[in-house]
Amino acid sequence: MYKLKEITDKVYYVGVNDRTKERFENLWPLPHGVSYNSYLIMDEKTVLIDTVDICYSDIFLKKVADALGGRKLDYLVVDHMEPDHAGSIRLLKEEHPDLKIVGNKIAFGMLDGYHGIKDGLHEVKDGDTLSIGSRELKFFMAPMVHWPEVMFTYDMKEKTLFSADAFGTYGTLDGGIIDSEINLQRFWGEMIRYYSNIIGKYGMPVQKVLGKLAGVEIKTICSTHGPVWREHVQQAVGLYDRLSRYEGEEGVTIIYGTMYGHTEQMADAIAFGLAENGIKNIAMHNVSNVHASYILRDVFKYKGLVVGSPTYSNQLFPPIDALLHQMELREIKNRYVGYFGSFSWAGAAVKRLAAFQEKIGWEQVGSPVEQKQGMKESIYEACIALGAEMAGKLKNN
Ligand SMILES: Cc1cc2nc3c(=O)[nH]c(=O)nc-3n(C[C@H](O)[C@H](O)[C@H](O)COP(=O)(O)O)c2cc1C
Ligand SMILES: [Fe+2]
Ligand SMILES: [Fe+2]
Repeated sequence: MYKLKEITDKVYYVGVNDRTKERFENLWPLPHGVSYNSYLIMDEKTVLIDTVDICYSDIFLKKVADALGGRKLDYLVVDHMEPDHAGSIRLLKEEHPDLKIVGNKIAFGMLDGYHGIKDGLHEVKDGDTLSIGSRELKFFMAPMVHWPEVMFTYDMKEKTLFSADAFGTYGTLDGGIIDSEINLQRFWGEMIRYYSNIIGKYGMPVQKVLGKLAGVEIKTICSTHGPVWREHVQQAVGLYDRLSRYEGEEGVTIIYGTMYGHTEQMADAIAFGLAENGIKNIAMHNVSNVHASYILRDVFKYKGLVVGSPTYSNQLFPPIDALLHQMELREIKNRYVGYFGSFSWAGAAVKRLAAFQEKIGWEQVGSPVEQKQGMKESIYEACIALGAEMAGKLKNN
């Protein structure tokens, strides 16, 4: 019944869309849902690459059966054991009991731990190949992108890389599957958001696997989320290279907390100073209204960052504190940072932002601005000057 898109010669898309889940990992908002991608190779052997979230196993198994057209399933390759991809393995195995599961040692430990599956395993190591008829599959271990068992599977004939979560995006596939058949506008930003939320901490492991793939010709990338990359392979790989080196574009993320608008006025003055000095990319975020998911995306995207907070019970405004912790967790490097704050009787916010800057080791730009009670001209000018200094630093970069 199902019409299944042929991605490359005899490779079919058998993934599903999830428009029900509100938050990925119960954390990261999904305004356009998410897809769980799975691919079936119909060679002399039939090979399924990953499965889908268990909530979608029914439709998934039907798609696989339709694609197989009565043939038996010979192999399942497990590139990643996170339940959004491994969730349907036990049911798949029940339907195809003779199935051989291909994966690495760490994945097999998890396969036993999550699903109690111990038999019918074919273990592979970095660089191993598996002949499935007219083509060979080659396996590249990609540990900590973003789990320890992650590996990439490369179809040597079609030069297709099955890359697990790498190069993935949030957002369902609403008809089109391959980048060339989709308006990609919303997907690029979502690729950065996905990276910054899920993979951001693991810049080094991403660099390592990109290095391994340097001499490998890649015509198509099949990720486990979002579009299949073909027309834009270079852009996708280039973006991952830049993000994993923590290289920021010219632009500034301004993040502030505010209860009564005084700190916000400072943020506006800083933005004025930035724009007046030629900075066009300014991402302004009121931390109380914008989910951290989007703020982290912009912190990964832009080289400049300005953070402001009111003093709150001798501390930072709590959501600012939480956000700084998220940035620290991701070990974001090489940012220019400026900061500012406000208070009413005994300021603590600026002091605490300074301590954060020192701890994370980013280069401080401009003089911190601290406002007591209402806005004064000197403070307003100091905020504009902070914006101007940040702009100057970025322009000279
Ligand atoms: C719950 C709460 C706790 C606060 N704690 C402090 C404090 O410990 N020290 C201080 O100087 N001001 C404190 N303030 C005052 C704010 O820092 C001050 O009003 C600031 O201007 C608020 O900035 P905003 O207008 O951007 O919200 C507190 C305010 C609130 C509402
Ligand atoms: Fe994952
Ligand atoms: Fe995933």
